[in-house]
Amino acid sequence: MDENSNERPSRRVSVPWVANAPARAERLVMMTAYDFSQARLVEQAGADIVLVGDSLAMVVLGHSDTLSVTVDEMLHHVKAVRRGVVNPLLVADMPYGSFHLGCQQTVAEAVRFIKEAGAQAVKIEGHRPKTVAALVEAEIPVMAHLGLTPQSIHKLGGFRVQGRGDGARRKLLEAARELEAAGAFSLVLECVPADLASEVTAALESPTIGIGAGPDCDGQVLVFHDLLGLEDRLSPRFVRRYAELGSDARQALSAFADDVRHGRFPSPEESYDDPTLLGAEPIRKIYG
Ligand code: KIV
Repeated sequence: MDENSNERPSRRVSVPWVANAPARAERLVMMTAYDFSQARLVEQAGADIVLVGDSLAMVVLGHSDTLSVTVDEMLHHVKAVRRGVVNPLLVADMPYGSFHLGCQQTVAEAVRFIKEAGAQAVKIEGHRPKTVAALVEAEIPVMAHLGLTPQSIHKLGGFRVQGRGDGARRKLLEAARELEAAGAFSLVLECVPADLASEVTAALESPTIGIGAGPDCDGQVLVFHDLLGLEDRLSPRFVRRYAELGSDARQALSAFADDVRHGRFPSPEESYDDPTLLGAEPIRKIYG
């Protein structure tokens, strides 16, 4: 392991380890990933939890919201991430429509994420204690998600901060308690006032993981493309961009295009001009 890397000591993260994080006063790091190479990067960076979010619909598949991504599309990406992740807990987001038609349908779809794709838990949006209980009964750990739940975009009328006002605060706090009582091992809080997130966090034994929910949650999550500066269509205030890979990538890609157009790529060193070497060099070595 590189001395300067943030890689965590080798240990497999389990659901109970995540669920007990508040008791250990340990802050949880969750990052999203959608393919093999992203999965390796987030693990090497020290993520405790890797979420294959349905944000896939927007940041990878180019949709304007998360509603249209299917179970099969999600499975395809969870499988790729599974191949790249060894130690972090792998959580699969259940997409819109996959847990809305009753507990039997929900459990059947969730089982696919566990059996076919190797996820260790699923995440579902909204206040659905009965659904959570049915999944837990089927041995499937559940991460709940309250606040701004993007799958409810039509009901909510847009991507807006949730839990403002006394009634909404009380409702969210009660929903959080009910989800925990139903067996959820953790709760994502998205876009809620920081003091409400703090109150929910204090009220629960299981960990809260915030995104746009202030500093008092037990953990934080950001979307891969947001934190690396790869997504430039939306820029919510809760996103901190730790790099500008979008502009770095544009520069690199245009340098390649420019070199090709001006005959600067490939150079003699990047070419095989000695016929005796052809087929003898271990070309694949660089991918090993
Ligand atoms: O889909 C997603 O990436 C998410 C996270 C933002 C929590 O739900």
